[in-house]
Amino acid sequence: MGFRIRPPKGLAFLLLIIAVLVLFLTGCASNDPQNALTPVGPVGQMEAGLFTTIFWIAVVVFIIVEALLLYTVFRFRRRPGNDGMPAQTHGNTALELTWTIIPVLILVGIAVPTLTTIASASNIPTGPNALKVGVVGHQWWWEFDYPSQGVVTADELHLPVGTKVALTIQSADVIHSFWVPKLGGKMQAIPNQVNQMWLQADEIGTFDGQCYQLCGTSHANMRFKVIVQSQADFDKWMADQKTVPAKPTAAEIAKGYQVFTTGPCVGCHTIEGTDAKAKIGPNLTHFGSRTTIAGAIMENNPQNLAKWLEDPPAVKPGSLMPNYHLTKDQVTALVAYLESLK
Ligand code: CUA
Repeated sequence: MGFRIRPPKGLAFLLLIIAVLVLFLTGCASNDPQNALTPVGPVGQMEAGLFTTIFWIAVVVFIIVEALLLYTVFRFRRRPGNDGMPAQTHGNTALELTWTIIPVLILVGIAVPTLTTIASASNIPTGPNALKVGVVGHQWWWEFDYPSQGVVTADELHLPVGTKVALTIQSADVIHSFWVPKLGGKMQAIPNQVNQMWLQADEIGTFDGQCYQLCGTSHANMRFKVIVQSQADFDKWMADQKTVPAKPTAAEIAKGYQVFTTGPCVGCHTIEGTDAKAKIGPNLTHFGSRTTIAGAIMENNPQNLAKWLEDPPAVKPGSLMPNYHLTKDQVTALVAYLESLK
């Protein structure tokens, strides 16, 4: 007796494949902060919709092709006593036309929504209602500036809910890639080139972003947050960012100010209202108002900031801010000063 599989077993195999697919899709539906399949804005929704459409077309094609394949394998398998050469055929015009025309129709069906999505995703809003934000990738942190408001910040991009945002994406050093999975597709940050994209967040909340292009030692530590606020909260945040911090008077904070403005810090950083005006590192004018530090890899609190200042490359490998071997007193004073910059 030869090897035999009865049809019900083939059917069971097909059902197993479908069950695995369903499980896989259920896994994707969870509410994780970087899930591009649960978008919260029109650009992300357009792109996820395109993905879903093409995915289901592919599932139908997969099932039909696999079913035909399995049917053929079992139906025309070698049987005992059947040792001769099978009937040989050459050419079948109807069949060849069918398997040419059907794929052409499928590809046209995919091309049309793909092209319209590309057109909508590249249609950068220009009106007065669109918020303009400049994004600059640095090794290894993101800078965000609001040219119309004259505000520069880092690590955390604040946006008002339901507003179209026109982004210009640039790089200060190597190629990076800007990506907030829940808001929309990624865009490369390329030295000496200005790329553009647009986003809109339709939900208040905090969404994680990250650099998507291998850009050196701490590529994985080049994260950021998108903080989506109500228009009123965003306006308040913006008004706070526009203020210039007063020269501190409280003892420990004033000491930190002294350490900062007379030390190596001024070689790289800007703090409005002081002589620190360099643009190599993040602008620290409102450092204390941020929830994260060091490329959004740590919560912004005095312990983490002290750890960071004591030895930056130990926290973020390859950090361009070197270990300045600050004394414990200097670190404590700097922490007090920087955290006071709300
Ligand atoms: Cu920047 Cu990876």
